[in-house]
Amino acid sequence: MKKEFFDVLKCSILLEKNVAEFLNKIAEIIDDKWSSIALRHIARESEDHAKTLEDICRAYGLYDLEVAIEEYKRIIGSKGVEIIDSYKRIIERLDSGWKPDKDELLKILEKQNIVEKLAGEDIYVHFLLRLLEHVVDENAILKLLLRNISEEEERHIKLIEQIIERLAVKRL
Ligand SMILES: [Fe+2]
Ligand SMILES: [Fe+2]
Repeated sequence: MKKEFFDVLKCSILLEKNVAEFLNKIAEIIDDKWSSIALRHIARESEDHAKTLEDICRAYGLYDLEVAIEEYKRIIGSKGVEIIDSYKRIIERLDSGWKPDKDELLKILEKQNIVEKLAGEDIYVHFLLRLLEHVVDENAILKLLLRNISEEEERHIKLIEQIIERLAVKRL
C-alpha cells in the first residue's frame, strides 16, 4: 500500500511536468490572447503541483523518477504511460514547427480536459487521498496539500472549457 502511494506520487510528477511543458507550447501558438494567458497560468500551477509532489517525496526520502514509468504501467495501467507518451509526441511535433489548425487544437484541448479530470478526480482524490488514509501516518497537512492540488485541477477544467468555447466561435 505504502509503495503504491509513493509510486503514484512519482508518476504524477512526470505527468504534471509534461502537462506544463505541453501547455506552455500551446500557449505560444494559440491565436487568442486570453486563452494564452489562461494556458500559461495552468502550466505554472502544474509546475507547482510537480514541485509540491517532489517535496513530499523528498520528505519521505524517496526520489527516483527512473522507475516511475514502469510503476505507472503497473498501477494505473497502460493508459497512464500512453498519456505521458502522447504528450511527448505532441511536444516533439510542436517543437518541429507543427501548428495545429483550429479543429486539431480543439481536439487537443478536449483531450487535455480528460487528463485534467483523470488527475483531479481519479488520481488525487480517489486514489491518493484514499490510499493516504491507510498508508502514511495521519498527516493533515499532506491531506490538505493533495486536496488543494485537486481543487486547482477542477479550476483547470473550467478554464480549458472556456478556452474551448472561445476557440469554437472564433474564426482562426
Ligand atoms: Fe496538476
Ligand atoms: Fe491540471
